[in-house]
Amino acid sequence: MPSPKLKTDHRQPTTGSLLGIEHLDQQTICGYLQLAAEMEKRPRTAPPLLPGRRIVLLFYESSTRTRVSFEFAAKALSATTTLITSGASSIEKGESLIDTGYTLHALGADAIVMRHPSSGAHWTLSRALDLPIINAGDGMHEHPSQALLDAYTILKHKRELKGLKITIIGDVYHSRVARSNVFLLAKFGAEVTLCGPPDLVPDVAAVLAPGVRVVRSLQEGLRDTDVVMLLRIQKERFIGRRLSFENYIAAYQLNAERMRWAKPEAIIMHPGPIIRGVELNSEIADAPQSLIREQVHNGVAVRMAILAKALGAEK
Ligand code: CP
Repeated sequence: MPSPKLKTDHRQPTTGSLLGIEHLDQQTICGYLQLAAEMEKRPRTAPPLLPGRRIVLLFYESSTRTRVSFEFAAKALSATTTLITSGASSIEKGESLIDTGYTLHALGADAIVMRHPSSGAHWTLSRALDLPIINAGDGMHEHPSQALLDAYTILKHKRELKGLKITIIGDVYHSRVARSNVFLLAKFGAEVTLCGPPDLVPDVAAVLAPGVRVVRSLQEGLRDTDVVMLLRIQKERFIGRRLSFENYIAAYQLNAERMRWAKPEAIIMHPGPIIRGVELNSEIADAPQSLIREQVHNGVAVRMAILAKALGAEK
């Protein structure tokens, strides 16, 4: 195999890359969701789609769901995977992101799935490397595979996204999951409400996409909603803020009594990891209308679709 050449056109990411939801059109998103449905039905005995392809899982931040589901997805398609974490690689010795990328390319990687603490790191890597780059979460920016699996999960329970009332509660400001979901849901005409205190849900969040509104009261946010999406709350985010962690829990923690403010058939979602006793209590986490474990399950089929598309094997 000849050694790979350096990329000469740095303007565009390589075909097959998935860097975010913001710049995708409806057709592309529907393509991922349809392919995920095919992947879910795919028998284990079906001909392998990615035999011998090498997928690198490059994780500069911790992860359970995203990392394992990309790994299982790759293996379900007969690709091989290699996990690289920043604590156990030459990243620790000071190697730059781009040099790490060049190294992985030279070693024969066919695609890189990356989680990175810096927003935009994937754009930097994708402009340098002639390889599909898949964003598994970049800083406070985007988490596109999570938004795709969330849409896939919603559509298993609700007929369409258009007109659906979806309430996202919690730390929207720091959440890449919230941003990717807002971009995706608004593109399909869902009515998105962002709910939380000003430090976690600034008024300006309403300009993320058309039709998004910001509310402060949990009761108002939940009124008539079809989908409740909770976000993880981290205690350290409250240091130096007007609202205390304890007051957040008092005002915004979801419990069964408060869930009655939503429609009776409303579903409950959370990208994980959930922190019981903080953003939700156990009666909500384990409620019949909680789809938290189904979201995790659906992540494998959705990530199979992302990998197949990245490596041109979706036909
Ligand atoms: N939802 C999500 O990204 O979870 P992990 O951090 O465990 O991958």
